[in-house]
Amino acid sequence: MAYNNIIVETHDAVGLIRLNRPNSLNALCQELTEEMGDALKKFEQDDAIGAVVLTGSSKAFAAGADIKEMKDRSYMDVYQADFITATWEEASRFRKPIIAAVAGFALGGGCELAMMCDFIICADNAKFGQPEINLGTIPGAGGTQRLTRFVGKSKAMDMCLTGRMMGAEEAERAGLVSRIVPLDDLEDEAIKAAATIAKLSRPTVMMCKESVNKAYETTLREGIMFERRLFHSTFATEDQKEGMNAFAEKRSPSFKNK
Ligand code: CAA
Repeated sequence: MAYNNIIVETHDAVGLIRLNRPNSLNALCQELTEEMGDALKKFEQDDAIGAVVLTGSSKAFAAGADIKEMKDRSYMDVYQADFITATWEEASRFRKPIIAAVAGFALGGGCELAMMCDFIICADNAKFGQPEINLGTIPGAGGTQRLTRFVGKSKAMDMCLTGRMMGAEEAERAGLVSRIVPLDDLEDEAIKAAATIAKLSRPTVMMCKESVNKAYETTLREGIMFERRLFHSTFATEDQKEGMNAFAEKRSPSFKNK
């Protein structure tokens, strides 16, 4: 598939997808979401890739779904095409770690896409928001659900009902982003974090990601049991033996992803 709306790069074991529709602040049109899904599937299948960074430009991660493209669609159009579900959610199904590196606007579907990733590193100029209410609609790619789980009801209601934007510091304080870095360092920091993860045992990393994600979908007791079973199962891997032996022998581990 040729890409018109994204740029795909690899940095050693890190795959990078850059949203690239500069004239519309990376608004998420149908074609862009299809391309992003295709690139993610390829990174998923590529054994050389251990983690992925999803980013945009210094002005915008993404300013939301493409309003001009969707504005005239009917209820039947969006229902029958299964709008959002059909092409947007590959990031939330991706099994390898995926980091959102957000600079500038992450609004509406842009904020929702960032939240589908495993964690968000943002630049000091980042602005998050769910402004759909101003358009006579509501968030449709998980905003009312994920934002509420990440920042709590009061702030999620504030963001979704007033449509106001939240800056980087507020986003970090609220737990939406893991860390803020200077704009010029954003990409390097995100790639560095992804490279750190990519060096680890791939199966263990995937289990760890599954276990954290379970916390959002289950009771505490069931989540702890799920974690315990995965923890036990890491003892069946060669990488657990290697990691613990390397510690005991005061050397760096050499993981084989087995
Ligand atoms: N869809 C389509 N085009 C968009 C867009 C979007 N979401 N956001 C920005 N653009 C376009 C603008 O129309 C403009 O194009 P032209 O130059 O052809 O007029 C260009 O990008 C630059 O935008 P602005 O001139 O508006 O730039 P600004 O700096 O003055 O404002 C902004 C920036 C505050 C982000 C403003 O563009 C804006 O409010 N954008 C819309 C944000 C929004 O409402 N997002 C939610 C979309 S709905 C959604 O995402 C649903 C869902 O949950 C899935």
